[in-house]
Amino acid sequence: MSRSARVLVANWKMNLPEEGIEAFALAVASWEPRQTIDLVLVPPFPFLDMLTRLKQAHGNRFEVGAQNCSAEERGAWTGEVACWMLAAVGATRVIVGHSERRHLFDEDDTLVGRKLAAVSAAGLKPILCIGEEESVRQSGQTRSLLRHQIETALQTIQELPPGLTIAYEPVWAIGTGSSATAEMIAEAHDDIAAILEEVAGTRVPILYGGSVSADNAEELASVGSVDGFLVGGASLASSSFGSIYRAL
Ligand code: PGA
Repeated sequence: MSRSARVLVANWKMNLPEEGIEAFALAVASWEPRQTIDLVLVPPFPFLDMLTRLKQAHGNRFEVGAQNCSAEERGAWTGEVACWMLAAVGATRVIVGHSERRHLFDEDDTLVGRKLAAVSAAGLKPILCIGEEESVRQSGQTRSLLRHQIETALQTIQELPPGLTIAYEPVWAIGTGSSATAEMIAEAHDDIAAILEEVAGTRVPILYGGSVSADNAEELASVGSVDGFLVGGASLASSSFGSIYRAL
């Protein structure tokens, strides 16, 4: 896969950057442009519209993404947000199946698959998160778990969604300060690429996520099969996120 596919995602979760959204967006817009990296900023829902306006005001240097979506299109789903609504406020990508959604909100592979289909039907680009818990890794089941997550997610759709990105995020590395090693990432990414080739006959960009920081980004970016990063904690300050950008 060519370097042009590299993607760097800031997942703010239920936080905002300490410097404020506007200052963060301004900082990102001031970075030296690199055609080879797609930048995606993913705020909580209420800030999508504001971020889209900032993006337009500062040269469209980044995309705006959403952290979650409903699998439904409309109706009596109190508290839910449909994909077409995300598109209406300028989102172009949606994170689906993040481990916090899977574990804290009981989202199973089937629901993740339905959400993937909804994102695709709305013409948005999904970022599908997959990854193993520590016990799965220890029992040597990582590859079969990744296969199961990919197969179930893709079951409900006829074709691979255009613009699909996969984020390999080992659950035990998320927010813990200890990322997977370069060797583990290389192995998992090769497995994911092989599974996708077999299941869908194609390649898509594969990002790594889980305690990516300004300190380890350069080493992790040197893994040949890493097409970008999904960053949580270190995306809450433009200084650390900028270091990761430059490391890619
Ligand atoms: P982290 O989060 O970078 O804070 O580990 C990554 C993620 O949850 O996507």
